[in-house]
Amino acid sequence: MKKTVLVSGGAGFIGSHVTVELIEAGYEVVVADNFSNCDRTCFEGVKKITGRDDIPFEEMDFCDAEAVDKLFGKYHIDAVIHFAAFKAVGESVAKPLMYYKNNLLSFMNVLEAAQKHGGCNVLFSSSATVYGEPKSVPVTEDTPRQPAMSPYGNTKTMCEDILQDTVKASDGLIKGILLRYFNPIGAHPSALIGELPRGVPNNLVPFITQTAIGKRECLSIFGNDYPTPDGTCQRDYIDIVDLAKAHVFAVTRMIEGKMKEPCEVFNVGTGRPVSVLELVNAFEKVNNLKLNYKFAARRPGDVTAIWADPTKANTEMGWKATRTVEETLKAAWAWEKHIAGK
Ligand code: WQD
Repeated sequence: MKKTVLVSGGAGFIGSHVTVELIEAGYEVVVADNFSNCDRTCFEGVKKITGRDDIPFEEMDFCDAEAVDKLFGKYHIDAVIHFAAFKAVGESVAKPLMYYKNNLLSFMNVLEAAQKHGGCNVLFSSSATVYGEPKSVPVTEDTPRQPAMSPYGNTKTMCEDILQDTVKASDGLIKGILLRYFNPIGAHPSALIGELPRGVPNNLVPFITQTAIGKRECLSIFGNDYPTPDGTCQRDYIDIVDLAKAHVFAVTRMIEGKMKEPCEVFNVGTGRPVSVLELVNAFEKVNNLKLNYKFAARRPGDVTAIWADPTKANTEMGWKATRTVEETLKAAWAWEKHIAGK
């Protein structure tokens, strides 16, 4: 019988790609979302890509404990992947309570319901943000976490701890995996799903593609005086489909009982540092266009350089990022053209 995976926040950027990969790997998926930060386009795209018009869908808010409890009663859930959360760093500084309430409560409701309904495998979408400004790069899972730089980042650190503690106290009922994502970018090669930022994008790649299509006038590269080879910040940009596949490996590892500890942590990155300028140049080259950009002041809170040591995910989970930055930037551009109707 097919195993069932609940994807909270499954209509969003990462959730929709993960839903596709899970279905293609033979899982039944229950998608739940309240569309608070995404529209219905991506879920429609998921149906088209998978050829499945009947994916179980629940429109609900994970802060509603009763609704979450009902959900766990309605389906037999073998694993849950929790994405339902707010994710804008700047907004979290302005509205900390909104972030703490939404991101912590929704996750605690999932854990409580999972426990009440007989236990579950829980995968939490964490972030490399928990490493802060690392003392050395690349970072392994043992690199110490640093105090978060924003309420958003703090909710990731806190949810990591909440899961670790809950697993410890659960007598084997709850098992957990924390996936620490580096910088997810790109879109599905079908160009039917991708990132749909609301308003002015905070993240680099949507800003690049929107500038290239003419929605934004000019990209500001935040800082060119960092102590890096070309003076711009370095990140580990990971293709969204590669990232989505890591979830399939993690879920399978949990369901097949292959975990070595009841709560495991994995970096999900490529191990390849890329600077802002290198990314911009690669985008121009692979898509054969010129991007309007200028150097601007540093953005407060940015770390100079961070990239993953993905050895643990490569060897333990058997997952490895396969796509080149060029392939990913082509897909990002195809998606931007798709949403612009071009
Ligand atoms: C990447 C690089 C910028 C925009 C954030 C979150 C993190 C995670 C992913 C989200 C930096 C530079 C950007 C622009 C620029 N989670 N940049 N001009 O900051 O590494 O990580 O997103 O849910 O938690 O903090 O990603 O894409 O914002 O920036 O020069 O207009 O691009 O300075 O060096 P970041 P990013």
